[in-house]
Amino acid sequence: MKIIEVKDYQQMSNKAAEYIIKKVIQNPSIKLGLATGGTPVGTYKCLIDDHQKKGTSYQKVTTFNLDEYVGLPGENKNSYRYFMNNQLFDYIDINKAKTNVPSGIAADFQEECHRYEDLINQHGGIDLQILGIGSNGHIGFNEPGTSFASKTHIVELASSTIQANARFFNKIEEVPTKAITMGISTIMKSKEILLLVSGEKKSEALFRLLNEEISENFPASVLKNHPCVTIIADKAAIADLKVTT
Ligand code: PGA
Repeated sequence: MKIIEVKDYQQMSNKAAEYIIKKVIQNPSIKLGLATGGTPVGTYKCLIDDHQKKGTSYQKVTTFNLDEYVGLPGENKNSYRYFMNNQLFDYIDINKAKTNVPSGIAADFQEECHRYEDLINQHGGIDLQILGIGSNGHIGFNEPGTSFASKTHIVELASSTIQANARFFNKIEEVPTKAITMGISTIMKSKEILLLVSGEKKSEALFRLLNEEISENFPASVLKNHPCVTIIADKAAIADLKVTT
C-alpha cells in the first residue's frame, strides 16, 4: 500500500481528484467504483470544477456505487442515488444510464444482489474503486465480521454506523438499519483502489489498518492483500501513527 500524506481535507480532495482525472483521461471508458459519505464530497467538487474549467469528459465512463440504504428510493434525499446525482452526476457530462447504484427498493433483494454483482462482472470489473473507511473499519457497508469472500449482499448496519450517519438525517430513528453493499470480494476484485482518510475521527481506524493483522474483525485490513492500493490521508488522520513512531 502506498500512502500519500497531505495537509488537510482540501488537499486530500485535490489530490484524489487529480488522481481520478488522470485515469479518466488515460482511459475514457474507465469503470469507476464510487463512494458516498462525507469523505468524497470535496473530491467530487474538484471533479466538477475541473469538468467545468478544463472539460474533462465522462461521457464514456461507467460507474458503480458501493452501496445503498434498503428502503430508500432514489428520490429520497438521504438515498445514495440522490447523493450521487446531487454531488456529482448532475454537474458533469456523464450518461446517467451508465451510472449504477444498487436499488434500495428492489422487490427481491437477493435477485438485486445477484444482478448488481453480475453487472459489474459483465463490464469486466471495476478499474478504480474509491473508498472511505468507517471508524469501525468498514469498507462499503461491510461491517466487522463480514466474510472476505462476500459478494454483493444485504447487511444489518452496526449501531456505530447508524450513529455516525445520523448526522445526515433529521433524527436517528430515520436512519435505515439495513443496506445493500458490494461485498469484500467484490471490492477486492477492483484492479486498483484509492482509499481516502481524513480527520482525527478516522485516525484510529487508519492506525489499525496499518498495524493490525488482517482479520474479518477489521474489514479494511483486507486491503493489505490487494496489489494496488493508494491511501491519501491528511495530517489529522495520520496523527496517531506519529505518536507511536
Ligand atoms: P464518511 O464515511 O466518509 O461519512 O466518514 C465513510 C464510511 O463510512 O465508509
